[in-house]
Amino acid sequence: MARVLITQEIDPAGVAMLREAGVAVEERRGLAPIERSELLERVAGCDGLLPMLTDRIDAVVLDAAPLKVVSNHAVGVDNIDRKAAAERGIVVTNTPGVLTEATAELTLALLLATARRIVEADQFLRAGRYRGWRPTLLRGADLDGAVLGIVGMGRIGRAVARRAEAFGMTIIHRSHNRGVPLDELLAAADFLSLHCPLTEQTHHLIGERQLRAMKSSAILINTARGPVVDEAALCRALDERWIAAAGLDVFEQEPAVHPKLLELENVVLLPHIASATTRCRRRMAELAAGNLVAVLAGRSAPNPVT
Ligand code: DGY
Repeated sequence: MARVLITQEIDPAGVAMLREAGVAVEERRGLAPIERSELLERVAGCDGLLPMLTDRIDAVVLDAAPLKVVSNHAVGVDNIDRKAAAERGIVVTNTPGVLTEATAELTLALLLATARRIVEADQFLRAGRYRGWRPTLLRGADLDGAVLGIVGMGRIGRAVARRAEAFGMTIIHRSHNRGVPLDELLAAADFLSLHCPLTEQTHHLIGERQLRAMKSSAILINTARGPVVDEAALCRALDERWIAAAGLDVFEQEPAVHPKLLELENVVLLPHIASATTRCRRRMAELAAGNLVAVLAGRSAPNPVT
């Protein structure tokens, strides 16, 4: 009987699919990601691994078990050494498509929250500071008529663009060296939203030079991966108002957040919840389980990562 380790509790639909296919499932549960030592210990003897985006799956992990497949519970696969997996003949899969709409919705939530200062306004009211309506109170930015610069016009970028157009925004984009040159996009954007994968090329794509090239009224949204932005430079940009605000769902050293970000009022911070809807997490679990079942049964994976 094939054995699979799931490193964090997932939607039960995924676990049920594995059990129905006759796979022995070991599902770890915990509030924090699995520790490296525990991962190495528990993966031994497994044919399949279903890790989270927070688990670093490198050659050491791949050599700790007779793995046939690593089925990431995420669309992003920057946590997996894919070259090492390919060298060992281990199939790597992901969960594309099912989290497009949920991630786009959360991106819009961050656009609105930062533009209209929703969190700041809520805190202002709860602190007893609201003394009555006045024309200059908590003025924000309009989405209508604003330019949204999208970096990474894949499935999620396009889903964000569709929604933003309905709010009256003009879309410009940069993707795989196509579209508007990045410097032009940075100079023109009222809002900049990141949707590219984390690769060697996109690591710190947005650093001090890029932040200084943006409008002082611009707002940065990151629902992609933390290291796409140089977080220390972003802290200075927000503190010294090179840009107006930011909405972040991801961080450079997740789950740690740069202490300066926690002090600033002009940033909305979320704990990587872009895909956190019940439907989306169920579909992710089902896709991840389906990939495992296929490879363990000797078939091709529905979602191999190339
Ligand atoms: C992913 O799947 O890569 C997302 O970041 C999860 O929300």
